[in-house]
Amino acid sequence: MMTRGRNNACDDPVARRRDRRPYRRVAILTACCALMSSSSSSWDSFVVAVAAQPFSKAAKSVTKSKTAKKLVKYPSTFYFVEEDDASSDGVEEELDDAERSFESSRSAGCVDFERYYQIERDIGEIASEIADPGALAHFYGAIVRLVAHDFMDHDTNDPDQMGSDGCIDWLSEKNVGLNSIWSEETPLKHLWEEKYSDISWADFWIMAANGVIHMASTGDKLDLRDTFLWGRDDRESCPQSSERLPTTESCREVEGVFLERMGLTWSEAVALLGAHTIGRGHEMFSGHYGTWSQNDFEAQIFDNQYYRELVGRAWSPRPISNDPPLSDFTTTEVDDPKPKMMLNTDACLVFDLESSGPCCTRTDLFKTNGESHCQTMEDEQCPVYDEGNPRLEATEAVAEYAEGNANFYEAFRQAWFKATTNGNSNLKRVVEEC
Ligand code: HEM
Repeated sequence: MMTRGRNNACDDPVARRRDRRPYRRVAILTACCALMSSSSSSWDSFVVAVAAQPFSKAAKSVTKSKTAKKLVKYPSTFYFVEEDDASSDGVEEELDDAERSFESSRSAGCVDFERYYQIERDIGEIASEIADPGALAHFYGAIVRLVAHDFMDHDTNDPDQMGSDGCIDWLSEKNVGLNSIWSEETPLKHLWEEKYSDISWADFWIMAANGVIHMASTGDKLDLRDTFLWGRDDRESCPQSSERLPTTESCREVEGVFLERMGLTWSEAVALLGAHTIGRGHEMFSGHYGTWSQNDFEAQIFDNQYYRELVGRAWSPRPISNDPPLSDFTTTEVDDPKPKMMLNTDACLVFDLESSGPCCTRTDLFKTNGESHCQTMEDEQCPVYDEGNPRLEATEAVAEYAEGNANFYEAFRQAWFKATTNGNSNLKRVVEEC
């Protein structure tokens, strides 16, 4: 396996100086729905009306230089190219191992506190030059999505486990759009080339995403430094990795990627999917267009809005294409130039889409004129999962994270740690000084 990011900056004081230069169980779903000011009826009544049981159970320095100049405006959106155990004990144990491993092998691409936060500042500087709210949401979102596409190809049962290794199958349609954040012409790649090329892509992408999440989080900031480990090797090629990536079709995809191959729980999968709170989907990329959050400003904030939106709005099916057949969910404001969306893989965390035909998620919500938010689907309520269905764990997690940011942040921290370290060994903690 060829590796990248292995110039030993830690062992070379000159290089070092140069590099440092510029540089729970658901309480109550009613609580989460109380947060949805747009709802015209309570979650409770929905629960009663729909299910009568399941939910209640759950109750150059890269400054003004070339970076922003590379942004090219397109009609509706902006692109950056011209063309085991999830407990905190488990995490602590792995972090202790990482400490020991660093002592025994001071290897390359060293990351200390200053450097770790410098990446965040550099990304903040690029972001500060992006004026369009949708483009900024996409800039943040695409960095986080890049990391997810790197780790979602992990298969714990396969001798070739993959995972976070800086390798993306750029030709796969599942990865379309990722080159808007990482290609020769993008500010992020320039940043790496100019200041961080001793660090592997895999490490750099995760640090960049951690920086985004830190900047974009709210209230008690979500600082992932203490659960970040570095020392991943990059892999030059990973044919077939994209076969392991999910489609947007159904919860079978979520199960396959997160539970069966990555070894996560439903709650952890739900925590990771909460990252859809930032960024947006693009017609030209995946075909799914719109934001999961309320608007382009909210889509720049890393908080629990994804869960609140998921349970609080009436989501109806939206056909995307006939060939291949593709659909997702949107709200009834069909003419909204900035539509909102939920993928099937999002909606299925709460609604049993596989055992129903086309349906709407909240037939109990009405507009002020009395019209159903579900419009023509006013009688087609999506069912929720039956008692005993393992997917109820996902529903409970959605409710828990919708209830408070702190719940989401803690769950995300654990799940992100697991997802980004899967398949890697001998990783090291960020050190005080390299
Ligand atoms: C079942 C798993 C998943 C599916 C099916 C899925 C699907 C998608 C799709 C279709 C898009 C729109 C892409 C585009 O058109 O530009 C998207 C965007 C995004 N995804 Fe996911 N995703 C999954 C898991 C994840 C995970 C685990 C994360 C992070 C932890 C993540 C973070 C994001 C972000 C932040 C965006 C917005 C990107 C942007 O603004 O450009 N996704 N995802």
